[in-house]
Amino acid sequence: MDAAYPSSPCAELPCAEPCADARIACADNLEFLSRLPDCSIGLVVTSPPYNIGKSYEKRGSLEDWLAQQKAVIAECVRVLDTRGSLCWQVGNHVSDGEIVPLDTLLYPVFYSFGLRLRNRIVWHFEHGLHCSKRLSGRYETINWYTKTDDYVFNLDPIRVPQKYPDKKHFKGPSVGELSCNPLGKNPGDVWIFPNVKSNHVEKTCHPCQFPVELVERLVLSLTEPGGTVFDPYMGVGSAVIAALKHGRNGFGCDIAPEYVSIARARLDALAAGTLRTRPMDRPVYRPPGPSAL
Ligand SMILES: C[S@@+](CC[C@H](N)C(=O)[O-])C[C@H]1O[C@@H](n2cnc3c(N)ncnc32)[C@H](O)[C@@H]1O
Repeated sequence: MDAAYPSSPCAELPCAEPCADARIACADNLEFLSRLPDCSIGLVVTSPPYNIGKSYEKRGSLEDWLAQQKAVIAECVRVLDTRGSLCWQVGNHVSDGEIVPLDTLLYPVFYSFGLRLRNRIVWHFEHGLHCSKRLSGRYETINWYTKTDDYVFNLDPIRVPQKYPDKKHFKGPSVGELSCNPLGKNPGDVWIFPNVKSNHVEKTCHPCQFPVELVERLVLSLTEPGGTVFDPYMGVGSAVIAALKHGRNGFGCDIAPEYVSIARARLDALAAGTLRTRPMDRPVYRPPGPSAL
């Protein structure tokens, strides 16, 4: 592991929450993980390579990919706190036009390590390859597992506006009172966040970045302030940024020096208050047009 990213005193961060440290390295994830103590991480959140020949991976057999995933997952389970969560975000492996949903291959692996699936969140986005012989893929999944039944889950920080916030009970003992939670509703398990394509404010040269707002929702609901978030396939540091924004510690590693440099620059910008991220509560753009269809 190379030198940790310097600790960021809370006062320098553009958030009013407790102190948070970043520790990032240009390293193979198994090497980085080997230095983390057992049960030291509150949330592992990541998106591994999908074995589809992106610039940062070598395409190989699915068997080899699964064996590599198994080794990394075993270590992630070891470092996960007993109240902790692990979120593995994946899409499809595609070969000769045939898709293999990677979460279905990985489910038995997580299960064999004693993890339990709490939600299979569908992340819907609107941009991507246009397919001509099948429907264009417009979702991936975030597979949220916990280590035990006693896990951190805070719903209030991630509630979203109610559809009918002023609706009241019209009969019974609560007549006249609001019938829905005034703090907002549970966001459900279908999440719509724009993916990071060319005109997204967070876009870097990385071909597959997390939108920071997607990770923010996981950080806020699955960790407490002061907790620690780790991304073993960190890319340009989006998960670490989401952690620091909310007063959590952010750890991450990536094997590609170019991405780690960008992650460092983004963390510097975050500390300086100049990093632009898409706000979690901004509605998705809807093109103008007839609304009464
Ligand atoms: C899908 S990308 C993750 C992008 C990240 N979520 C972000 O927001 O930038 C997968 C990343 O895994 C990295 N990677 C591949 N093998 C690795 C390994 N053995 N150890 C650490 N990182 C690795 C790649 O360089 C790539 O950046």
